[in-house]
Amino acid sequence: MSPERETESLAGVRFVRLPNANAVGEQAALMVANQLANKPNSTLVFPTGKTPLPLYQALRHMPELDWHSSRLFQLDEYVKPKMAGPLPYETFAEFMDRELWDYIAGHKFYIQHYFQQPADYEQLVLQGGGPDLVILGIGGNGHVAFNEPGSSPDSPTRVIELAEQTMVSNFGGAIKPGYPTQAMTLGLKAILSAREILLLATGESKKAVVKAAFSPENPPSSDCPASWLKRHPNVTIMTDFDV
Ligand code: GLP
Repeated sequence: MSPERETESLAGVRFVRLPNANAVGEQAALMVANQLANKPNSTLVFPTGKTPLPLYQALRHMPELDWHSSRLFQLDEYVKPKMAGPLPYETFAEFMDRELWDYIAGHKFYIQHYFQQPADYEQLVLQGGGPDLVILGIGGNGHVAFNEPGSSPDSPTRVIELAEQTMVSNFGGAIKPGYPTQAMTLGLKAILSAREILLLATGESKKAVVKAAFSPENPPSSDCPASWLKRHPNVTIMTDFDV
C-alpha cells in the first residue's frame, strides 16, 4: 500500500486567468489603483522584464491615480561591472523611469544607491510593517526578483551571482564582456513580508515553471524559489494560460 501523498495547502493563493497579456496588465493595474485608493501612502515594489510592460502601459494611461504619497521601490537591479564607457545593457533604474516612474509622482527608491548597504534598502522597504504590494514576474528557472535557485524563504536583500540560465536568457550568453554577472535583489524574506503579492506570468514559455512552482503536489523548495510564495497568505497569480 503506498503512503498517501501530502499535498500543499494553497489557501492563500488565488489564480486569475485572463485572455491575454494585455488583459493581465489591465487587471494588474486595477489592483494597483485599488491599493492606492485604499492607502495613498502605500509601499509598492515593482519588477522589470517583458511581463510587466502591459501593466506599466495601463498605469501610464490612468492619470487619475494619485501617487504623491506613495513609496516606490525597485525589486532588483544589476550590479554595474567595473568598466569605463557606456553600459551595453539597460539598467533596471532606466527601465523603471522609462516605463513608469518618469510619468508619476511618488517617492522613488533606486537600488543602485544601496549596493554597499543592501540591509539599509531592505529596512526602507520594510518601514511601516512591510510592503503593501509586491509585484513579481518569474524567471524560467523559478527565480523571483533575482532570488536564484538556492534561495531560502528567509534570504535577505543582498548582492547575488546571476545564474547561468539567467545570463543566457537576459543577455543571450553566459558571461559577456561589459555585462553584469551580479545583481542586487530584494530577498525572499522581505518579499514574503508583503501584505499582498501579485505574480504576473504570461506566454506559453512561463507555463511549465508556474505549474511546477504552484503545484500542490510539490512542497516548496529552494530549487524553485517562486514555490515559497505558496506559503504566503495573500498571493494572486495572474496568467494568460491555465495553471
Ligand atoms: C528577470 C528579473 C525578474 C523577472 C524575470 C522575468 O531576470 N530579475 O524580476 O521577473 O527576469 O522576466 P520577463 O518578464 O522578461 O520574462
